[in-house]
Amino acid sequence: MTFFRLIDQAPHQTLEIEGSQGGPFTGEITVPGDKSISHRALMLGAIAQGTTRIKGLLLGEDPLSTAACFSAMGAKISNLDQDWVTVEGTGGELQEPDDVLNTGNSGTTLRLMLGLLAAQPGKFFTVTGDASIRTRPMKRVIAPLTEMGATIAGKAGNTLAPLAVQGKQLKPFHYHSPIASAQVKSCLLLAGLSVQGDTTVTEPSLSRDHSERMLQAFGAKLSIAPATCSVTLHGPAQLTGQTVIVPGDISSAAFWLVAAAITPGSNLLIKNVGVNPTRTGILEALAAMSADITLENERDATGEPVADLRVRHSLLKACTIGGDLIPRLIDEVPILAVAALFAEGTTTITDAAELRVKESDRLAVMAHALTQLGANVIEHPDGMEIVGMGTNAHLQGANLDSHTDHRIAMSLAIAATRTLGRTQIHRAEAAAVSYPSFIETLASAAPAHR
Ligand code: S3P
Repeated sequence: MTFFRLIDQAPHQTLEIEGSQGGPFTGEITVPGDKSISHRALMLGAIAQGTTRIKGLLLGEDPLSTAACFSAMGAKISNLDQDWVTVEGTGGELQEPDDVLNTGNSGTTLRLMLGLLAAQPGKFFTVTGDASIRTRPMKRVIAPLTEMGATIAGKAGNTLAPLAVQGKQLKPFHYHSPIASAQVKSCLLLAGLSVQGDTTVTEPSLSRDHSERMLQAFGAKLSIAPATCSVTLHGPAQLTGQTVIVPGDISSAAFWLVAAAITPGSNLLIKNVGVNPTRTGILEALAAMSADITLENERDATGEPVADLRVRHSLLKACTIGGDLIPRLIDEVPILAVAALFAEGTTTITDAAELRVKESDRLAVMAHALTQLGANVIEHPDGMEIVGMGTNAHLQGANLDSHTDHRIAMSLAIAATRTLGRTQIHRAEAAAVSYPSFIETLASAAPAHR
């Protein structure tokens, strides 16, 4: 019996996992480049003067959407299939594209790019994306951009893509964001690059700060006030091309952290993972659950902290996840819900209503799928309670669906490695959005005797 197989059902794929064949996760693995940093490296490279060289770029569907959009606006992006990707920047003068810009499934591409497009005086852009993107809220960036002087029109009262942007000279602005969102913050900072004066964003708690770090590395002047969660970009700023080393994505490592933590006998080393403190909420949550994770070989890669993560199986206990921790593990809630199934006690997740407007409604989709596996899950408007079943949890195999959401597909695949019997995950190809080699790594971390 093989551990898993991929069934081609064009245009979709079903991942079938024989949970009872699962063994420990061992050895050494690497994960693909950080998605957030990859988007930013391509975008800053595209608007900078001169050449940007990027090592470790994530070649997932999302960053490839960013590359395609900026290529259509005059950036010369080459060697995408090689170790070092090169971006010849436009110096900030994006070309008016001949056609609609397509951001695919990528909210980061759409929201961050809008800040740049809105600030291109006299130029016109149209932007769309896939079925999921066209349901995702865009008012959160359109409203503050409009206050800066932008002209953006779109579906549903100018709140949804497809969007049309008439570029303008924008003005200084201080935005008090009601949500901790790196996409909102980054959109406005990027818009601020061509503003004569300050663009300030204050958020209720700190979201990931990759834009701040990379904008400074590319030559922009920023003032950062961590105590008030405020950042100011002093415009205008001309960026200069840089060398960027993209670390492995902690959001991708999270699947293996949980897989090894819940599977007896596991001892796995995940090498070269970004451990920026605005992203390590998953490590804090797993530590609170008594997971056995250690950071080794801590270092710095072009302004981003990096480490190797060793994870061993342990007996997990339930925890409470909410408040300021949520923005620092926003993409890891689905896989944390899987960890909670194997803990002793009931895990409570609160303050996570943002999950409902991700690539899918991740609270509803996870609550439903885990229930299908035999778990006891109570869904709340802003979170859920998961009744842990302990390290020997008996989950039953089931027919599950990714809802075309990459993180759901992978979280359910990890849960499936611990089911009794066979689990099918439909539309599993979604994993390629952020982790094209997910299945290969599942095979390599899974011993041959499975
Ligand atoms: C991202 C920010 C987060 C995260 C997304 C990537 C980014 O979204 O969920 O996967 O790269 O800025 P929000 O800013 O909407 O929370």
